[in-house]
Amino acid sequence: MCGIVGYLGEQEAFPLLIKGLKRLEYRGYDSAGIAILDDDGSLEHHRRKGKVDDLLEHMNGHKPSGGLGIGHTRWATHGPPNDVNAHPHLSGDGQLALIHNGIIENYHSLKETLTGRGHTFYSDTDTEVLVHLIEEILKNSEDLDLFEATRIALNEVVGAYAIAVVDVGRPHELVLARKSSPLVIGIGEGEFFIASDATPIIEYTKNVVYLEDEEVARVSLTAGLKIRTIKNHKVTPVITELEMAMESIEKGGYEHFMLKEIHEQPRSIADCLRGRLRLGHGSIRMAGIDDHQEMWSQAQRLIIVACGTSWHAGLIAEYMFEDFARIPVEVEYASEFRYRNPVIGEGDILIAISQSGETADTLAAIRMAKEKGAHVFGICNVVGSSISRESHSGAYTHAGPEIGVASTKAFTAQLAVLALVAIRVGRLRGKLDEQRFNRLLVELSGIPEKVQALMALEPEIEQIAEQFMKAPNALFLGRGYNFPVALEGALKLKEISYIHAEGYPAAEMKHGPIALIDENMPVFFVATQDAHYDKVVSNIQEVKARGGRVVAIVTAGDTEASALADKVIEIHRSDDAFVPLLSTIPFQLLSYHIAVKLGRNVDQPRNLAKSVTVE
Ligand code: M6R
Repeated sequence: MCGIVGYLGEQEAFPLLIKGLKRLEYRGYDSAGIAILDDDGSLEHHRRKGKVDDLLEHMNGHKPSGGLGIGHTRWATHGPPNDVNAHPHLSGDGQLALIHNGIIENYHSLKETLTGRGHTFYSDTDTEVLVHLIEEILKNSEDLDLFEATRIALNEVVGAYAIAVVDVGRPHELVLARKSSPLVIGIGEGEFFIASDATPIIEYTKNVVYLEDEEVARVSLTAGLKIRTIKNHKVTPVITELEMAMESIEKGGYEHFMLKEIHEQPRSIADCLRGRLRLGHGSIRMAGIDDHQEMWSQAQRLIIVACGTSWHAGLIAEYMFEDFARIPVEVEYASEFRYRNPVIGEGDILIAISQSGETADTLAAIRMAKEKGAHVFGICNVVGSSISRESHSGAYTHAGPEIGVASTKAFTAQLAVLALVAIRVGRLRGKLDEQRFNRLLVELSGIPEKVQALMALEPEIEQIAEQFMKAPNALFLGRGYNFPVALEGALKLKEISYIHAEGYPAAEMKHGPIALIDENMPVFFVATQDAHYDKVVSNIQEVKARGGRVVAIVTAGDTEASALADKVIEIHRSDDAFVPLLSTIPFQLLSYHIAVKLGRNVDQPRNLAKSVTVE
C-alpha cells in the first residue's frame, strides 16, 4: 500500500532513499517524505503531497547529508493526501521520526489516552499515534532504549504495520517492525537497506532478511542485526539470497512498465512453464501437487479466493478444473469470503491467487481457511511474500517483478500455472486420458510463441484505440472461458483510462445492458471459434441491429463474426481453455494505447496502488 525505505551506513542516505522511493512509488503515490539524521545530529524532515518528484521540487535542490534516514511514499487511508498527513511523522519532542505502512485499528482509543497525557496531534493519520506512543513509553522509563520502547508499544497496537523509527539520540541505529505488512532488511558490508520489498535493495546487496509478523528488529552499525518478537522472544535472523535481476525492475527502453510487461509475456509464460511442463516425459512436475497427491486426488472441493485481476484468473481456473478434473469449484472474492461464515474444512483445498502475495483480504481468507482445517495452496508472483509463506503449499508464477499498477504479465502467468495445476490434477484423478493429457501439454507449450505473434498486432490495435478513445463507456462481452476475459478487459480499460467499462457474459446482455447500446457505445467481443461461437455471433448481430459499434477478437481465418464487426483482431486458434492466454493480450494493448492517448498516468493511475495491503 505505502512504500517504506530506510538506510543506515557510511554512504549518503538521501540519494539512496530517493531512488528507493521511486522504485516503490507503484505502491502508493499520494505523498512522499523523508527524515535524515544529518551529520551535526539534527533531524531533517521533508514531506510533500504528490509524487517523489514533487517532494524533490519542494526541496529545491537541497540534499540533506547523513548516513541514517527513512523515506515513505503514501497511499492515503486515514486523512486526505496533504503535506501534514504525509510521513514521516514526528514525536512531540521532535526526537523520533516514524514511517508506517498498514492501519492502526485502535488508533482512536490510543489517541484519546495520549491526548489525555498531554500529547498534541497535527495530522489525521493513524500513524502519528504510534510515534507518540513510543515517545510516551520512552519518557516514562529512562532505562528503555528505542528498540524496547517500540516492542512494548506494539503490544498495545491492534492492526497491521511495517514501521521504521529513527531516534535523534541514537544516530547509529534504526528500529523496524512488521505485522501483516511486508518489510525486508538488506544486509550490506557495514550498512543496512530497508524496504517494503526487495526492488530498492537488489542494486546494493542480495542478502536479505524478511521480517516475520510481530517481529521487531534493530539494525545497528556497532551491534549488527537483532530481532525479537513483540512478546520478547529471541529470533535468529535467517538470511535469504535474492534471485531478482536488476533489468527486471528497469523500463528497459519502454515508455512505461505496463508496456514492457505486456511485451514480456511470451517470456514470462515460458518461464512459468519451464521445468514444470515436461513434454519429453509427457508429464507435469509441480512440487505443490506431487508432494500432496493423495490430498488432491481425494479433495471434495476447491475454493478459489482472490481479488481484482487475480479473481478473474480464478474464474477461468474454475472452467479449467471442471473441464479437466471434474471437481466442484467455488470462486470467491476474498473480501466477501472472509466475512461470511463459509462452510469449509478438512477435505477442501483453498487456492489463493495473488500477484503481490500481500493483499490483505486474500491473506485474511487463507488464515480463516487454515483455522477451519482446509489445505491452502498459494499462487503468488512475489517470492517470499506473506501469502506464499503462509500457504501450506503452492506455486510461484515466476513472471518477474510487475511494477505497472495494472496487472498484465502476472495475470497470464497465473493462467499458465492454473492450467498446469488443473491438467495435473485431472490426470491424477483419472479424468483426463493420456491422449487428451498429451494434447493439452503440446498445446500449452506452444502458447508463448502464439503470444509473441500477437505483439505484431500492436500498430493495428493502436489505430483501434485512436477510434474509440473518446467513448465515455464501453462494454466487454464473452462467453465460456472468455467471459472472465471480458471482465478483465473492462477492468484494464477503466483502471488506467478512467473510461467506464463493464464486462458481461455475452448472453446476459439481453437481460439489461442491451438498453445501453447505441451508436456511441463500443462493444468489445471475444468471438473466437469455440463451443459458444454461434451464440456469440448472434449476440454481435443483436448489437449491430441496435447501431452499436463492434470490435471483435476472432480466430484467424474467421469469416462470420468478422463480416459483422466494425473492427476485427485475429488471434491464433488454441484449445478453448488456453484461448484466454491469447484473447486477453489485445485488450491489454487496447487499454494501454487508449490510456496513453488520453494522457493518463498508465503505470500509476489515480487513486490506485499496486497491492492493497489494507481492507
Ligand atoms: O496482488 P494481487 O494479485 O492480490 O492484487 C489483486 C488486485 O488488487 C489487482 O489484481 C488489481 O485489481 C490490479 N490493479 C488489476 O490490474
